Amino acid sequence: FKQKTAYEIVDCDWSSDVCSSDLGDVWLSPHDRPLTREELCDAVAGADAIVCLLHDRIDDEVLDAAGPQLKVIANVAVGFNNVDTDAIAKRGTVWFTNTPAVLTEATADIAMALILMTTRRLGEGERVIRSETPWVWSMFYMLGTGIQGKTLGIVGLGLIGQATARRAKAFGMEIIYSGRRQADPAIEAELGARYVSFDELLETADVVSLHCPLNAETQHLIDADRLKQMRSDAFLINTTRGPVVDEQALVDALRAGEIAGAGLDVFEEEPKVNPGLLELENAVLIPHLGSATIETRTAMGVLAATNAVAVLNGEQPPTRSEEHTSELQSQSTISYA
Ligand code: GLV
Repeated sequence: FKQKTAYEIVDCDWSSDVCSSDLGDVWLSPHDRPLTREELCDAVAGADAIVCLLHDRIDDEVLDAAGPQLKVIANVAVGFNNVDTDAIAKRGTVWFTNTPAVLTEATADIAMALILMTTRRLGEGERVIRSETPWVWSMFYMLGTGIQGKTLGIVGLGLIGQATARRAKAFGMEIIYSGRRQADPAIEAELGARYVSFDELLETADVVSLHCPLNAETQHLIDADRLKQMRSDAFLINTTRGPVVDEQALVDALRAGEIAGAGLDVFEEEPKVNPGLLELENAVLIPHLGSATIETRTAMGVLAATNAVAVLNGEQPPTRSEEHTSELQSQSTISYA
């Protein structure tokens, strides 16, 4: 089995599908890994467009390294906590775009997978088999928690929150949600979702799934006090960004039995994982795989490149982020997931 390179995996020919004609020089990182700070600053020097990944910190230093000709930052992610959008807005001449909608279903699949893995103890079960630990079917062996008729609390009913709710509803769960604003009545009706306060959500949900973006307001949204508000038989699922949860407080809460389990796709200081989590059987831990399908990563890359190319061609990019662009660009629509 030969490990494929990134270019063999993606499902299109970037140069012909997206960069149709004379866009000038395209520098493509030869590495399928985060660039170091130095590599990033070197790579962007003189660029008109930067297509960056979620671990690339885009701030004044990188904008300066690029130079005044820079026209667009196209983030290959829906979340953009890696980008100092105020620094971009201040420049007044640089567009910022993200990749909403194309990763909705893949990420919701992972949220639902984590709900099933945590409630049914699947990681723990797999470890029993792989470690060749003796086991035998018995009435009370490794019992989990059924989710039918239980309540899923969605924090942030954006596109991914909705897609997760849709899946959970098909599994027989009731849906409540909290967030900055109430969803469209048609969406509430489709999902049978009830808008509740954050307090009510934490206090009543059997499973709490986080789908809010990471920003100054949501940093450590789930801290020791919030974890105490949750039911002791409840599960916490995080597929958004690690810092939305105070990871040490989560370890303490899991150890103390303040909540029943957690399923995490994201971590506070990725790729590091709090060692306390590694010791806990009731934590399911996967390495930021939310959007990691061939189809979705291809769609994300193509959308980001399409955004960049549109700007270079003097057109409006398809998925620009209104909230953080300058006056010049303020006709556009914000796209959160
Ligand atoms: C992935 O984590 C994303 O925000 O797109």
